[in-house]
Amino acid sequence: MEISCSIIIFTSLALALFSYLVIRKRGKQMRKLPLPPGSMGLPYIGETFQLYSQDPNVFFASRLKKYGEIFKTHVLGYPCVMLASPEAARMVLVSEAHLFKPTYPRSKEQMIGPWALFFHQDDYHARIRKLVQASLSPESLRGLVHQIEGTAAAILRSWDGHALSTFQVMKKLSFHVGILVIFGRHLSEQRKKALENNYFIVDKGYNSFPTNFPGTLFSNAIKARKRLREILNEIMKERREKEAVVEKDLLSCFVEWRDEKGEQLRDEQISDNIIGVLFAAQDTTASVLTWIVKYLNDNPKLLMEVKAEQMAIYESNGCGRQPLTWAQTRSMPLTHRVILESLRMASIISFTFREAVVDVEYKGYLIPKGWKVMPLFRNIHHNSEFYSDPEKFDSSRFEVSPKPNTFMPFGNGVHSCPGNEIAKLEMFSFIHHLVTQYRLALNWKDNGTISSTCMYSRWLGLTIRWSIVHSLFPSTVSPSDFGVQSTYEIVRASDKQVLEEMPRRTVCNKTWHICVPLAIFTSTTPK
Ligand code: HEM
Repeated sequence: MEISCSIIIFTSLALALFSYLVIRKRGKQMRKLPLPPGSMGLPYIGETFQLYSQDPNVFFASRLKKYGEIFKTHVLGYPCVMLASPEAARMVLVSEAHLFKPTYPRSKEQMIGPWALFFHQDDYHARIRKLVQASLSPESLRGLVHQIEGTAAAILRSWDGHALSTFQVMKKLSFHVGILVIFGRHLSEQRKKALENNYFIVDKGYNSFPTNFPGTLFSNAIKARKRLREILNEIMKERREKEAVVEKDLLSCFVEWRDEKGEQLRDEQISDNIIGVLFAAQDTTASVLTWIVKYLNDNPKLLMEVKAEQMAIYESNGCGRQPLTWAQTRSMPLTHRVILESLRMASIISFTFREAVVDVEYKGYLIPKGWKVMPLFRNIHHNSEFYSDPEKFDSSRFEVSPKPNTFMPFGNGVHSCPGNEIAKLEMFSFIHHLVTQYRLALNWKDNGTISSTCMYSRWLGLTIRWSIVHSLFPSTVSPSDFGVQSTYEIVRASDKQVLEEMPRRTVCNKTWHICVPLAIFTSTTPK
């Protein structure tokens, strides 16, 4: 018995030593591999200045042309490897995802909450993701079509006759849809208002300079975040005391979850994830919706075709007297293609950030441990090898499916977006009501002004604004970092006009601002 014990111990030690030596040797060999081509720029500063002073599209494109699909650089204080091929993006996000962890600045973690799923890569991430996915699955969303449609219709009504910032209107819409997914129909108007007021203060501070000096956007946001947490705690307490709710919303999934040992999620874990989902859902969907409106307006023929598709549904619903059904939202092929092409063109998440947790070899190059790794979605979406005439808005290109890993507006792999179905549902509902009942016309005019925290740069007739302050921070491109703003008015058409096409008229001047907090350009040039 003793002898067999010793043999086991000896064999284990020998195996451990052998593995250690193999890993060490491999590590040494790996370190001999060349780094990807590219320039690390000046000491400390790297190529940050070039990235910020050039059109970011040009920054990436020129390096891709010079060095190929994988290149190194140094920006915002970090050495980075940028990858612009579908295979490389797949390697980082899917096949070798365990070698790369998500990476965000600390201030973002502080604002959203460290327990939000996108900061994690382990079992905890998998557990939370499963719950989020379940409450955003098509099965769960079926029951929400009517409410989401109602929310879109109400937002349009509140916009009727007013010249408002489109992006702000869309943010309101996506916030309310987020609230619906999280709390179902169980939230009082008073609670909703309290959440909304505090959420928008947090939102304002999210991209600001992280200083706790009283009165700054950041410090206000931190205070508002505390209040959000208190409100969420009260809601959770009430939910736990109540009988089980009939429909399953995200909050009930979180509150009712137990592991094998009967352990529950802690309140702070739930509230961080609720705030996280609200953030992930908001600016992303609002940006895409804003671009969709613009693309439709730029393509009158396409707008007419989308309108025809939507009118057929509108009429079959007794001219809007019956609500949209889930099945109807699944059979809007042209509108769907317009959404897909808008996602491609605007590529509102231009890239994502990961960090190599070990030395990684890719195509004979070394990606050193600790380096930031950025799959460049936007460059893949705008590569003429995969999309002919890529700068042209052409929804018909989605009549055939894109090649694998060439279309990743919602990311890919373990951290890919669980909200893609609800985002599309929101877009379908919004477009349906907009084109069947309203008219708008854009006559845009560039009139950006300079403010103390923002730098404006003219770029092909657009006002591109980015926060200098935010540029001090490394890494993250969280979904909510991007936005497009425009101001215009919509006008409700009369019932008669709904059925006959009303001549389009210009109702106001419009200003496009593309907020690029990291100075990384995320959207296409309106023409
Ligand atoms: C058009 C709208 C949207 C776009 C383009 C978008 C895009 C993305 C992308 C690219 C990622 C992956 C980021 C990465 O890999 O680093 C992501 C993650 C995520 N999105 Fe979305 N998103 C949208 C809407 C939504 C909505 C409506 C929700 C929720 C209701 C949502 C919830 C999330 C969450 C929770 C994650 C983190 C997933 C994880 O880490 O496992 N998103 N989104």
